[in-house]
Amino acid sequence: MIMNEMQTEIVKVDASAPEADVITRAGETIRKGGLVAFPTETVYGLGGDALNPESSRKIYAAKGRPSDNPLIVHIARMEDLEPVCAKIPAEMLRLAEAFWPGPLTMIVPKAGGVPTETTGGLDTVAIRMPDHPVALELIRAAGGYIAAPSANASGRPSPTLAEHVAEDLDGRIEMILDGGEVGIGVESTIVDLSGEVPTILRPGYVTEEMLLRVLGKIQTDPTLMQHIEGGRPKAPGMRYRHYAPKGTMTLVEGNAKEVAEQINRMVEAAAAEGQKTGVLCTDESMGAYRADVVQSLGSREEMRAIALHLYRALREFDAQGVQVICAESFSREGFGQAVMNRLLKAAGYTVLQV
Ligand code: TXA
Ligand code: MG
Repeated sequence: MIMNEMQTEIVKVDASAPEADVITRAGETIRKGGLVAFPTETVYGLGGDALNPESSRKIYAAKGRPSDNPLIVHIARMEDLEPVCAKIPAEMLRLAEAFWPGPLTMIVPKAGGVPTETTGGLDTVAIRMPDHPVALELIRAAGGYIAAPSANASGRPSPTLAEHVAEDLDGRIEMILDGGEVGIGVESTIVDLSGEVPTILRPGYVTEEMLLRVLGKIQTDPTLMQHIEGGRPKAPGMRYRHYAPKGTMTLVEGNAKEVAEQINRMVEAAAAEGQKTGVLCTDESMGAYRADVVQSLGSREEMRAIALHLYRALREFDAQGVQVICAESFSREGFGQAVMNRLLKAAGYTVLQV
């Protein structure tokens, strides 16, 4: 199929007070079955009409994504919840009260009106109310329901800037709303409420501790933080080799001095074999490294900065053709769990303890 036939319009939009004419036009594009990429507080999304099976098919095609990997339905008003859910568990309302609009996606049994194209064939649906003025106004203008995966080509890191979306999807979608850099930089926390015990299928800014405080009980899919032989993540999307840079990546874990020494030894060995090398580190350690491309994610003290810069850095290694990447590790506590989950997946769970 020839996909690069379309002229993609890139429109700047005021992230805090989006221009009404831009939103109206983008909303109409989605109502007519077109695709519009837009900023959310987590990452950029690739939006289509969630209730139109043809739009969902177009989303899979534009991303090159397997069609058994379900999409998240984004809403902007609590009254729009009921028509898409077969059941609204009490936990859903408590979590919505605590975290919506915000970086939390909840999975519940789906109502008949949600096409199976949107849910990847499943009888459950993932729903989120994002916390971003552009996203919220666009959802309303589009009729209330936008299906939106992250707006990257399948297998690439999620986009945190409109430029990343253009890199991956230019010529494949109708429109990109450029609202500047997102606020969080990793995708929403996903909680499955369709089973016995609420289960985290993907860690994000809303942490296990925060969920526990509201729900009183929570469990985490054990495949998220380690490779389990024969283990199958419950979120179909977490089974694919996501977030993976083109180079081979190793995470090094241990005390700061030994980590730096180990990384420098690995970099030297790779360079001796003629490989282009990269190091992913922090402001505190940046001076310790010799490699072709050394990138700091920010201060180790600020997990939010680390998260926000992670995907941009992985894209940069690809852009520079880095073949061997060594990365420092972070605490798995709190929001660190989300950051380490993405790093572990990027590294194919290759971790070296020093
Ligand atoms: O922050 C986010 O959630 C972003 C922004 C754009 O909202 N969206 C996002 O969508 O990350 P996506 O499609 O890249 O990731 C959705 C994940 C996938 O791993 C998918 O398999 C899982 O959610 N998922 C969706 N519906 C599901 C369902 N019914 N059951 C289990 N997993 C589901
Ligand atoms: Mg994604």
